[in-house]
Order: sequence, then structure tokens, then C-alpha cells
Amino acid sequence: MDVARIRDQIPGLQHGVYFNTGGFGQPPVSVNRAIAENYQQLLSGSVSTFDWYTEMERAAAEMPARIAGFFGADAGEIALTMSTGEGYGMVLGGLRWQPGDEVVITNEEHPVPLQGAEGLADREGVVIKVVDIDQDTDLFLDRLEQAITPRTRLFCFSHVTTDTGTRLPAREICALAQARGILTLWDGCQAVGQFPVDLHDMGCDFYATNCYKWMLSPMGTGFLFVRKGAQQILKPLRRPHAPDGTARQYETGTPACMLYQGLAASLDFMTGIGGPEAIAAEAGRKAESLRSRFDAIPGVRVTSSRRAETQSGIVAFAIEGMEGNEVSEALRNRWQIAQRATHINKPTGVRISVAFYTSDSELDTLVEAVTTLAGETA
Ligand SMILES: Cc1ncc(COP(=O)(O)O)c(C=O)c1O
Repeated sequence: MDVARIRDQIPGLQHGVYFNTGGFGQPPVSVNRAIAENYQQLLSGSVSTFDWYTEMERAAAEMPARIAGFFGADAGEIALTMSTGEGYGMVLGGLRWQPGDEVVITNEEHPVPLQGAEGLADREGVVIKVVDIDQDTDLFLDRLEQAITPRTRLFCFSHVTTDTGTRLPAREICALAQARGILTLWDGCQAVGQFPVDLHDMGCDFYATNCYKWMLSPMGTGFLFVRKGAQQILKPLRRPHAPDGTARQYETGTPACMLYQGLAASLDFMTGIGGPEAIAAEAGRKAESLRSRFDAIPGVRVTSSRRAETQSGIVAFAIEGMEGNEVSEALRNRWQIAQRATHINKPTGVRISVAFYTSDSELDTLVEAVTTLAGETA
């Protein structure tokens, strides 16, 4: 992969050192241009608003098929959403619940899915059970089995967790759920765009994500996958005026059509640079090198998984004697390194998002900065 040439197409990477793709990704010029050109047409009056609106509707109507093609699903299983949280709301609000039903989550859920589950508990008297993440897949699956009771209705998990970037064994979890008659809802926003995701192969019922992180698309774009068979049990939150037998019945209003032009451009971009396999290989190599360079710094501990099957491009670390937010602020203020602190579990630390577009010199700057900070606190 010609990273230098790719970086030339990504204006946001020209400033500072960028390690916050898990916060929001840096879109290439083609994505920005696709969105800007649509607005420009309106601003300049170069097309009639009627033609513009018709074109936007047509383009949005094509998006479910494009998204489905990228993620191993059928077009009829994709609803357009503006965020992960919106997809969660559609699923948690659209299933029928009894007080005492149980939903299992992990101890590393982002506030958006966590608050979705907590809201469900408040409204419906559902019980939330928390299973601790583990980098050891077998150990995690054992813990999960032990958490299942006859009242377990839903597993609600991040595909890749937000702080340590632990990649859960999604296929195995879905198979376990299916065998026990339990539904699965996934938060995919730290997974999509990092590595290939095939939703049919994974075997999930529901998969909600935004597309503004590793997918390099604008904020306001996302989707909800609803497996064809699961559409019989998930009720739309509003009565669709034209039920068409697809997941679009779950959409809660008009999608941000012009932003999806940006998502279409990012799918083209990602395919053009080699697709998800090549993207994962490039970022995987860089993340591995960062983990071993961190290991060599006294006082620094990598808190992300050490096992290949549960690793991702997110590399979290802690410096002995410093809180995560202190490290994060120092990296930003002294070295202009964009990243964010981790705070869900102890020890607090910093989350580094290593992407395919990360440069060697960015990695060098980061390692030098962390070495300096760890030396200062020793
Ligand atoms: C794992 C995870 N879930 C959800 C979100 C936010 O979701 P949204 O803003 O799309 O609702 C984030 C954002 O950082 C995240 O990391």
C-alpha cells in the first residue's frame, strides 16, 4: 500500500500527529468533495431544487445495496441511520419485553450503548447483567455461558471495545446465542472499516454502527443491519407509511441523503486502496510494531489484548504513576498528538488508534513522547 500517496489525499492528516481514528476518522478529499459538491449545487442554484431532491432520494435509495455489498448482507437487511445510538434505539425499543427479561452486556461498553441498555431497564424492568471482557476467547465464552439463564433474551456487545480495542469472538458468540435462543445486537463502530466484517457469516441478528470513524465518512451516516429472519420479531418504532418488506421500515425519518454521498465515496476509496483485507493488514503490522515498542519502555504497560485473535488497531497503554487524562493532555499539548484517554476501567491510560494511513514518523514521534513522559515520572 502506498501510504505516502494515500496521505496526500487526506487533508486532515497534514496537521499534527493523528491517532484518534477511533474518535473520528480522517476522510479523503473524494469524500469531502462528494458532500461539498451537493451543497454547492444548491447554493449556486446550478440545478433545480426539484431535480436535486430527486437525485438525492435516488442516491439514498441505492445506499442499502452498496452497504450490504460491503458487509456481506442483503440490501433488504439495511436501514440507514445517523448513529449507532439510533440503531440501538430501534432494536431495544422495537422488541417486546417482560419485566425480569435479561440483557447481557460487557464491562467495556461505550456510554451510548450502555445508556441504551440502562434506559431499557428503566422503562421495561429488564435486568442488565455485565460480563467482564477477556483477551482469552475461551475464558470470555465460559463467563458468558455462566451468565445465561432461562430469562436471557439479548446479548448486547461491542464488536471491538472502545477503550482497549478488544475484538470479541463474534462468530462464536452468535453461535452460542443462536443455540440458546438468544438474540444478538452488536455495536460495530470500532470494527467496520478496521477489518472485513461479513454479517451473514458472523450470524448476528442486529448490527448497529456509525460510519464516521474507521469508515472515514461524515458524521450523520450509519446503518442498522436487521437479519431477514429477525424482521418478523422487530417492530418498527413508527408505522411505516409504505412498508416494503425491507429493513428500511425501521428508519425513523428522512435520512441525511447528501451525507450518504460521502459514504458512497468512502466505500469507493476503501475499495480503491485494496479493500478491508489490505487495510487490516497494513494497520495490523503497524499496531504490532507499536505494541512491541511500548513493551520496551520502562514504566509503560500495554493494556490492550496480547492475543492475535482479540487484537485490533486500537493500542491502549498506561504509564505507571500517571492518570490517563494527564498522559493524554501532555501528548496533545507538548507534542500535538491527537488521541484520547481511556477511563472505563482501571488503570486509566491512553487509547492510540493505529490506522492504515498512520505514518512511520507519527509512530516515532509517539514512541519518543511516551518514552520522555515515562522517564519523567520514573
Ligand atoms: C464503541 C462505541 N459505540 C458508540 C459510539 C458512539 O456512537 P454514536 O455517536 O454513533 O451513537 C462510540 C464513539 O466513540 C464508540 O466508540
